[in-house]
Amino acid sequence: MFSIRASRVSFFMANIIVIGAQWGDEGKGKIVDLFTPFFDIVARYQGGHNAGHTVIIDGRKYVLHLIPSGILHPGKLCVIGNGVVIDPEALKREIGELAEGGISCRDRLFISDRAHIILDYHRLAEQGDEERRGAERIGTTNRGIGPAYEDKMARRGLRVCDLGNPRTVRSRVEESIRVKQALVPEAAGGIQVDEICARAAELGRELREYFGDTAEILNRAIDGGKSVLFEGAQGTLLDVDHGTYPFVTASSATAGGASTGTGVGPTRIDGVVGISKAYTTRVGEGPFPTELQDGTGEHIRERGQEFGASTGRPRRCGWFDAVVVRYARLINGLGSLVITKMDVLDDLDEIKICTGYRYKGERLRSFPPEVAVLERCEPEYLSVRGWRAPTAGIRDYGELPPLARDYVRRLSDLVETEISVVSTGPDRAETVVVSPDSRLESWLPLHRAGSSG
Ligand code: IMP
Repeated sequence: MFSIRASRVSFFMANIIVIGAQWGDEGKGKIVDLFTPFFDIVARYQGGHNAGHTVIIDGRKYVLHLIPSGILHPGKLCVIGNGVVIDPEALKREIGELAEGGISCRDRLFISDRAHIILDYHRLAEQGDEERRGAERIGTTNRGIGPAYEDKMARRGLRVCDLGNPRTVRSRVEESIRVKQALVPEAAGGIQVDEICARAAELGRELREYFGDTAEILNRAIDGGKSVLFEGAQGTLLDVDHGTYPFVTASSATAGGASTGTGVGPTRIDGVVGISKAYTTRVGEGPFPTELQDGTGEHIRERGQEFGASTGRPRRCGWFDAVVVRYARLINGLGSLVITKMDVLDDLDEIKICTGYRYKGERLRSFPPEVAVLERCEPEYLSVRGWRAPTAGIRDYGELPPLARDYVRRLSDLVETEISVVSTGPDRAETVVVSPDSRLESWLPLHRAGSSG
């Protein structure tokens, strides 16, 4: 039976990135939570409070948006890296909610002084921009993420380290509002520059104890033999470079983002673990070749409780797409894959797996960059028999129904990556470690910890 020991295995020192191999919501929160006992520090490197990582421990549900879920583990340090965009109001709220649950962030949470700040006008500008786009809208989470990254890239962004300098705060805020009002007149309503600047400075003072040079903190920790788990948010297909542009988020959600988003060089990172559901979901607009707009899609949504953790929006559901996950393996250099929500497929007679795309009668050799092509791709499916038996809560690979094991093997073959863990339910304990010989085991000895724990 599988159980996680709270203590860390002393010889282990790998630094690992955990990323989403699909369009986000793959269950990274649970897996990061499961891996955390083997690391000293958990670091977020991109995105912002558009993410929603749900962790269930002993039946109690925590939804974290900005703060790494490592905070739920006593003694672990958490870092919010320079690549993250921070809404200080949301951050303050999250720190407060954790405190209400008896979890203190003091001396455990470190926020990069180089991270960029989201203020209220970013959200207003985003709302205006989405309205203006009409049918072409992205379907964003409306958290101001995109406009804050726009300011960063346009070199007018306000950073954490600027909050203590009223002159910089005012000049950056004024410049940003000036540009945004020109582009999105709808954003003009309700913007009070004086109030915004005063509030930003106030929040800067209140949160100051968490701010610091996190690149220095992380690199020194690694020098001292500590290990870091880099917690990705969103997913590969939402990455601004590699995703289904323009229907993407504004940050680098792929493994490469971990280095630029924390200041830890790639040579110091040992491996990348991808997380994928046993099927596929997507929130917001954009192409989704294996989407099911029928009763089966509805069934998966209901059974999988596929509603956004941040926005509550229903998620679009579809079959597992091996083209997508193979692409994620390539882009991220995945060494190992975790399959989540296996139990959601328990009562289906037939399950389909997309093995390739056809476009204008031709089989595509790689993942197409153009949305117009993706939208017209015809998925080629392999149809397999469902196992029609409960897998929920199973903890031993041998106890999975044979057809469920076949399914896992098939996915592994199709994406050309080992599958090291299968999740059979939301709780930490509802987890199957597939093999004691996986590459994952060389980075974090889950199986050994489980079997000896
Ligand atoms: P934004 O990140 O709010 O700009 O939204 C851009 C796109 O990314 C939209 O399709 C969102 O639904 C999607 N997105 C952003 N964050 C998440 C997430 O945590 N899970 C799933 N989709 C997300």
